[in-house]
Amino acid sequence: MNQPKNANRVNRRQFFGLAWAVAFIGLLGQIGAGLARFMTPVLEEGAFGTKVKAGRVDDFEIGSVSYFRQSRFYLIRLEDGFLALYRKCTHLGCVVPWDENAGNFNCPCHSSLFNQVGEVLSGPAPRPLDLFPVEIRGDEVYVDTGVVIQRDRFDPSQVTPV
Ligand code: FES
Repeated sequence: MNQPKNANRVNRRQFFGLAWAVAFIGLLGQIGAGLARFMTPVLEEGAFGTKVKAGRVDDFEIGSVSYFRQSRFYLIRLEDGFLALYRKCTHLGCVVPWDENAGNFNCPCHSSLFNQVGEVLSGPAPRPLDLFPVEIRGDEVYVDTGVVIQRDRFDPSQVTPV
């Protein structure tokens, strides 16, 4: 029995139908990839919310207070280790600057005072400045600004030893 000559060939209608289907699937893929990229947060190195490499242990003198503006914390070098304080006031959230001359953190909004380890010296702030975890890897200091630790007082166990 003879088959028609063009029985296994794709006709023009099938070809265009297939081409449209492939183009449509490709378009859906592009849209999906674009959406996924849009929905994924882009966190630059050192940005708030990431684990920040602050520097080498020896870069920080004992007693120093170093400000990491982009990462929103102060790194305090104490005799026996490090403490990373969130710059956000525990009263209403203002940025609390370090006053080098006075040796304390002085909130400009309602005048709360905090000492070098973040304890409240005078209110209305209800609790000490919050902490970020500090990790010493080799001789490098890392601060995890993605984890905020609240506390009701300073305790030496909060200091990450060197
Ligand atoms: S926000 Fe700092 S004292 Fe009110």
